[in-house]
Formats: sequence, C-alpha cells, structure tokens
Amino acid sequence: MLPIQFNYDLKNANTLGLPATASHFLSLTHPAQLLELSQSPELKALPWRVLGGGSNLVLPEDINALVIGVALTGRRLLREDDEAWYVAAAGGENWHEFVAWTLAQGWAGLENLSLIPGTVGAAPVQNIGAYGVEVKDSLFELTAYSLADGHARVFSAAECQFSYRDSCFKQAEAGKWLIGEVVFKLAKSASIKTNYGDIEQELALLAQPRSASAVAQAVIKVRQRKLPDPAVIGNAGSFFKNPIVTSTLREQVLAAHPQLVSYPAGPAHYKLAAGWLIEQAGWKGRQLGPVGMYQKQALVLVNHGGATQNDVAKLTAAVQADVKAKFGVELEAEPVWW
Ligand code: EPU
Repeated sequence: MLPIQFNYDLKNANTLGLPATASHFLSLTHPAQLLELSQSPELKALPWRVLGGGSNLVLPEDINALVIGVALTGRRLLREDDEAWYVAAAGGENWHEFVAWTLAQGWAGLENLSLIPGTVGAAPVQNIGAYGVEVKDSLFELTAYSLADGHARVFSAAECQFSYRDSCFKQAEAGKWLIGEVVFKLAKSASIKTNYGDIEQELALLAQPRSASAVAQAVIKVRQRKLPDPAVIGNAGSFFKNPIVTSTLREQVLAAHPQLVSYPAGPAHYKLAAGWLIEQAGWKGRQLGPVGMYQKQALVLVNHGGATQNDVAKLTAAVQADVKAKFGVELEAEPVWW
C-alpha cells in the first residue's frame, strides 16, 4: 500500500508561502512507486503534479490532484576520464547542498549556481541560471520516469532542448515526466567565470586565492545582499523572464529611454533587464494588497503575508500592463502556475 496522504497542506512546501491544500499527496521515495500509482484507477482519474522544492510555483488554494513530492536522494561519482568527472544526483537532492558537495570534492563548474533554492530534479526544468552560467552548461544527461506508466527514459542534454529559462519539460514534455536523476559532466579544465555583475568585486573583497569555492562564496554574498531569503519573506526568485526582443523594438525603447539596460541575445535580438523595466514603471518596492515587487530587486515578487494565488495574479497583470504601456514590451511570468 502506498502511503497516500489526503488534504495535505502545501503552505510550507512553496517558497511564496501561498495557502494550498492537495487532495492527494505522496512523498515518492522510489521510482517504482510510480508504476504502483499508475495501477490505481482512483488515482489515475486525477491530474498528477510533480513537486520539487516549490521555489518556482504559484499554487491555488485547492488542488484537486495527486501531488507527488520528489523525495529521491543520493549522489555519487559515476566515473571519470581525462576530461571530466561524471557526477549523478537524485532528483530530490537539495540543489545548493549538491553544489557545495561537488565543490568540497574539488569538482568545479556549478559554483556560479550556488544558493539557488530548489531541487536537483527541478533545475533542468527551467534551466536554472545565474551569474553567466546555466545548468545546461554542465548537464550531461538525465533519467526521467513516465507519469503514465513509470517507465524510465534517458534524455541527453540535446533532447532536453534547453534555452533561456526553458526546456522540453516546460514545453512539449510538460506534465509527462518526473526527473529522477541528473548526471553532470564537470570538466577538469574548468576555469572560473567572474565577468558577470558584482562577482569580480566581491571576489576581491574575500582576500583569498581565486578558486571555484571562492566564486561560490562571492555568489552567496551577492545573492544574500540582493535576493530575499524565502524563509524570511515569501518569494519565488525572479518572477518574470528578462524579455528577449528584436533589435528594432530595442531601438524604439532606447530612443525614448537611453538608460535602458540590455544585452545582445543572438542575431538581431537583445535581452532587456526586466528588473530595470519594472523599476522604471514605478513598481520597485510597491505593493498591491499583500504582495509587492521587492525593494532591493524589482524582478522579485514578494508575499508580505497572507497572499493567495489571486493576489499574485492581480499584481502580475498590473506589472505586465504598466510595462507594456510604458515600453511596449511584454513580460512573461517565470514560475509555473498550477
Ligand atoms: N535592475 C534594475 N532594477 C532592479 C533590478 C535590476 O535596474 O530592481 C537592472 C540593473 O541595471 C542590473 C540589471 O537589471 O544591472 C540586471 O540585474 P541583476 O544582475 O540583478 O539580474 P537580473 O537580470 O535581474 C537574472 C536572473 C536571476 C539571476 C541574476 C544573476 C532572470 C529572470 N533572472 O536576474 O535569477 O540570479 O540574473 O545572474 O534571468 C531567478 O531566476 O530566480 C534568479 C534570481
């Protein structure tokens, strides 16, 4: 018998701290449990949702679904060759602890992704990224389990179809898989990447030799300074993607707003800093009901207490409308909405 729990409270299982109750919940400790689940007609009749660290989710109050909390654990060195270490971690492992563990072993490559909330299995779904590095840069392959019948499938990095904050698991394969294990290829020749934002400055302040571990410490300092700790104030990290627009649209915005912050993003396209757009639209530190845009980083939506999905939806729409009216730019929310 599977230990299904009923009317399961998810308020502490989502970093925005939204009130949410799942009609059915299972903490999945072994992939074989998926086959067993799929043999229950009662459970098959429900929608199924996979829950990782809950750090990129906007939950409704009543979830009439089977929510599967990924509690698969374990991490190990699979093999090494002249070029790299191949390191595997189970989907339920905490992302930051995994990164810290790889660094402690002397394996570099993930240091820029330190302190990102969430789990190893969720990391590829939105191709997490920070300070010039994305998870796709070192992901070798992953094993996912079908929610239809529990069978395992290996996805190569190419098959994951990674792009900026996106993968096949948010597109064609959305809702079909549970990511059970991820294998990283950590190059032995890896060099540290310190050209983004404040990292180089922070590194200088540390007064210690330049190393992957030092970069991790610098990243942790910058994140702690700019981003709210979900344990203190509910949030889901960056709430909007940095919009990628045509050069033509960027030129139009620049003509009226010469201070616009933008970066080249492929042929004839630019990525605009959504935080800048939101700040200029007057939303930095501003509240609408119990939610608002964070005063130190306008891209982060925060729950000042007591918010529901509906409050988040209202603020999302208000910010999108104001940015569209002022700049003609569409903002896309980054988290997944259930
Ligand atoms: N900016 C403002 N006002 C603000 C915030 C930002 O003007 O309130 C401007 C600044 O000029 C700044 C630029 O926007 O130079 C970029 O800001 P920042 O370096 O803080 O990064 P971001 O583009 O806002 C992205 C990621 C973050 C990641 C950082 C660092 C997205 C959606 N967000 O934010 O990821 O940590 O870069 O690499 O791409 C997340 O996804 O949850 C997340 C925190």
